[in-house]
Amino acid sequence: MDYPAVVAERKKAEEIKNMLMEMNMLDDSRRIVERDGKILIPVKERIEGFDIIEQRNPVFREVFPPFEEIKRRLKGKISHRDFSNLPDKWEKFGDVLVLKMDGIDEKRKIAEVYASVLKCRAVLEDVEGIYGVMRTPSFRFIVGKNAETVHVENGIKYKFDVSKIMFSSGNIDERIRMGKIVRKDEVAIDMFAGIGYFSIPMAVNGARVYAIELNPVAYEYLNENAKLNGVEDRIKTFLGDCRDVEINIKADRIVMGYLNSLDYLEYAFKWVKKGSIIHLHQNSRIKEFPDSVFMEAERIAMKMSHEIELMNARKIKSYAPHIIHGVLDLKVK
Ligand SMILES: C[S@@+](CC[C@H](N)C(=O)[O-])C[C@H]1O[C@@H](n2cnc3c(N)ncnc32)[C@H](O)[C@@H]1O
Repeated sequence: MDYPAVVAERKKAEEIKNMLMEMNMLDDSRRIVERDGKILIPVKERIEGFDIIEQRNPVFREVFPPFEEIKRRLKGKISHRDFSNLPDKWEKFGDVLVLKMDGIDEKRKIAEVYASVLKCRAVLEDVEGIYGVMRTPSFRFIVGKNAETVHVENGIKYKFDVSKIMFSSGNIDERIRMGKIVRKDEVAIDMFAGIGYFSIPMAVNGARVYAIELNPVAYEYLNENAKLNGVEDRIKTFLGDCRDVEINIKADRIVMGYLNSLDYLEYAFKWVKKGSIIHLHQNSRIKEFPDSVFMEAERIAMKMSHEIELMNARKIKSYAPHIIHGVLDLKVK
């Protein structure tokens, strides 16, 4: 095992440490120590241009659960108000962190500690969640300037820019389910593909996927992610509105991973055949789920001269007080 450390003169140590922190090269698992009048600053790897030694007997830090460690490092260094408002939850995508920082004044100082403890290169403040048709995040940079990362979930690699594209951690079970549910070589249409949340797991598990996405930024990542996961020959991508895109096939499965898919359901029927399955995502009052969503879906199906049956309904996550995000699996009769 290598334990490289930068050797610094005492009076230069603080400056060098800050420089190494900016470079994201500090190794937080070891303590900074003094040896023979010099300061040894642990680093992740050897870096050119610095005086480096190998530590034989490094002093390791005690390991605390992350939030305990964050509080330990900030105790006495920030105001009581900031301390009591420290977020005990966060979202981590690859090496990018998203924090809610309401009621906090010293945002940068605090975010740097979170970044260091949680091994993140950039920290974004979640200012106003996700908005608009393209589900764009309203995030602000607190640490770093680049939020492009590769997030690995259940063996699937998702590359995206966290500052520009949403990724709903709460949908993880549904992404896994879509990967498991497909049969080899079945044909699936993903009407709201995003960066490939469902398209990639389905393609990795053998489906041939037609993936439609409206947002050009998400569309670029969708194509990149197909390559990154080695399924570019199983995914055909379309940039545009799923209501207008022309695909002349009938699908075994149609995924409608949009919060208000009922508004788009009639357009799914141009691709159905007997036995097609539609996964319809919809926000709904918890008390009315799934009955009122299914009744509305049935009404739309009838208008399009089709009959559907409800195979399965599941709650994905809570969305707002009394409102859930759920999915209905509908079979075309
Ligand atoms: C962000 S995803 C939903 C989240 C996803 N289900 C997950 O697991 O995290 C919804 C996507 O649908 C896209 N979209 C919205 N309206 C669309 C339309 N009419 N046609 C195609 N894509 C659309 C948005 O740009 C967005 O990328």
